[in-house]
Amino acid sequence: MHLLVLILLTLSGVLPQSSDYGVNYSTLVCAVRGFSVSIPCYYYYHPINSTVVQMLWCSMNSNTDLCLNPPYVYNSSSNTKSDFEFAGNNKSDCTLLIHNVQFNYSGEYKFRFITNLIRWTGDPGVTLQVTDLKVSLIRLSGNGTLKQGDSLNLRCDVNCTHTSSQFVWSKNNQPLNTSGPVLHFPALTVRDSGNYTCTWETNVTSGSETISLHVEGENPAQWPVAAVVTATVLFVIFLILLVVIYRRWKNDTVEDKSGKAGAQPQVKQLPQSNEEVSKQEEVTYATVSIKDNNMNKGHVNTENKKVDISVIYSSVKIK
Ligand SMILES: *[C@@H]1O[C@H](CO)[C@@H](O)[C@H](O)[C@H]1NC(C)=O
Ligand SMILES: *[C@@H]1O[C@H](CO)[C@@H](O)[C@H](O)[C@H]1NC(C)=O
Ligand SMILES: *[C@@H]1O[C@H](CO)[C@@H](O)[C@H](O)[C@H]1NC(C)=O
Ligand SMILES: *[C@@H]1O[C@H](CO)[C@@H](O)[C@H](O)[C@H]1NC(C)=O
Ligand SMILES: *[C@@H]1O[C@H](CO)[C@@H](O)[C@H](O)[C@H]1NC(C)=O
Ligand SMILES: *[C@@H]1O[C@H](CO)[C@@H](O)[C@H](O)[C@H]1NC(C)=O
Ligand SMILES: *[C@@H]1O[C@H](CO)[C@@H](O)[C@H](O)[C@H]1NC(C)=O
Ligand SMILES: *[C@@H]1O[C@H](CO)[C@@H](O)[C@H](O)[C@H]1NC(C)=O
Ligand SMILES: *[C@@H]1O[C@H](CO)[C@@H](O)[C@H](O)[C@H]1NC(C)=O
Ligand SMILES: *[C@@H]1O[C@H](CO)[C@@H](O)[C@H](O)[C@H]1NC(C)=O
Repeated sequence: MHLLVLILLTLSGVLPQSSDYGVNYSTLVCAVRGFSVSIPCYYYYHPINSTVVQMLWCSMNSNTDLCLNPPYVYNSSSNTKSDFEFAGNNKSDCTLLIHNVQFNYSGEYKFRFITNLIRWTGDPGVTLQVTDLKVSLIRLSGNGTLKQGDSLNLRCDVNCTHTSSQFVWSKNNQPLNTSGPVLHFPALTVRDSGNYTCTWETNVTSGSETISLHVEGENPAQWPVAAVVTATVLFVIFLILLVVIYRRWKNDTVEDKSGKAGAQPQVKQLPQSNEEVSKQEEVTYATVSIKDNNMNKGHVNTENKKVDISVIYSSVKIK
């Protein structure tokens, strides 16, 4: 490769200086599985106004040495969609964007570019390290289900070194005013229940993981059962009360009827004796009004029909 460049440039009459060509990467980039990562990359060449013809990215998982031949994870001359997206340009930016990072994407990547004058591969390349973000719950007191007053830590772990990064916590998607990998709960309350998300951020990537906390109240397991039992008992009592009241009411009316037992059959007989069976209801109504109004309010009754008057008669007769 270097020989080729040397020959090429010797032929064109320009002797290459190694400082005239290059690719700058960060050495190590960390990414969380399933998320996206941007691999910053900068390339330069001389003369600066030469034309960049092709830009390529290769993976050492599938290629070797200086990636002189395919396969490439990115080739600017072929428009294939993949998780590997070129986010640079044909001047100086060779940033590679990798989506939906998987564990087997871990490894070394190299950028290669071809100008009208030279071909160059940035070597050594940049190493991508793919990890999982883990949120673990560490009990500091208590065991079994989480209860009020228990103490615990939520700890966010990412297996990646040499990166300036930060941890951001949120609860039910609302940011929490804390920083650092550990979220400390000195004494849980029921209100601490919820979904806690740890987001790990660097300047080139981020990833997040959520854990769900459920803190139980005083007698949480018995609570619904107790409620159902109480409701049932109350309902039964209510039913019994209803029956008792109904019976009493029925007895009262029976007593009423038996108290005026003399009046009842006579009232019933009256309309029959007055020929009009259809007016039986009016008669019944009349007896009720008599009972309420008593005998003093005779004027009310006089306003009623003849049948009513005959009822009054019957009552009077009985008394
Ligand atoms: C690329 O890296 C080299 C060595 O690390 C440094 O001297 C040079 O300034 C860098 N170039 C750019 C454009 O960052
Ligand atoms: C590049 O620029 C130099 C002067 O800066 C000029 O002499 C040369 O012709 C240019 N080359 C191309 C290919 O444009
Ligand atoms: C890039 O893709 C184009 C089109 O498929 C192909 O012609 C070219 O050879 C590829 N580049 C390399 C360096 O293999
Ligand atoms: C370089 O990119 C610019 C815009 O991004 C485009 O107009 C130009 O044609 C490209 N040059 C080459 C040689 O591909
Ligand atoms: C990663 O593994 C998947 C299967 O799990 C495979 O389809 C894919 O080609 C692999 N990618 C690389 C870059 O090794
Ligand atoms: C749970 O804690 C109680 C008191 O703190 C203890 O007696 C019991 O052994 C513990 N059970 C387990 C499984 O650790
Ligand atoms: C952390 O990552 C390194 C390198 O990928 C690996 O060797 C090590 O086993 C990992 N450690 C854990 C705890 O996952
Ligand atoms: C990201 O931060 C690292 C230091 O942790 C720095 O070297 C690198 O230039 C930064 N990259 C970008 C794109 O800001
Ligand atoms: C927590 O997450 C689960 C499943 O992702 C969801 O069903 C539940 O509604 C969430 N709880 C809150 C309080 O957002
Ligand atoms: C976050 O906490 C710090 C001190 O712990 C305080 O100064 C700041 O005002 C708080 N911010 C919010 C939004 O609560």
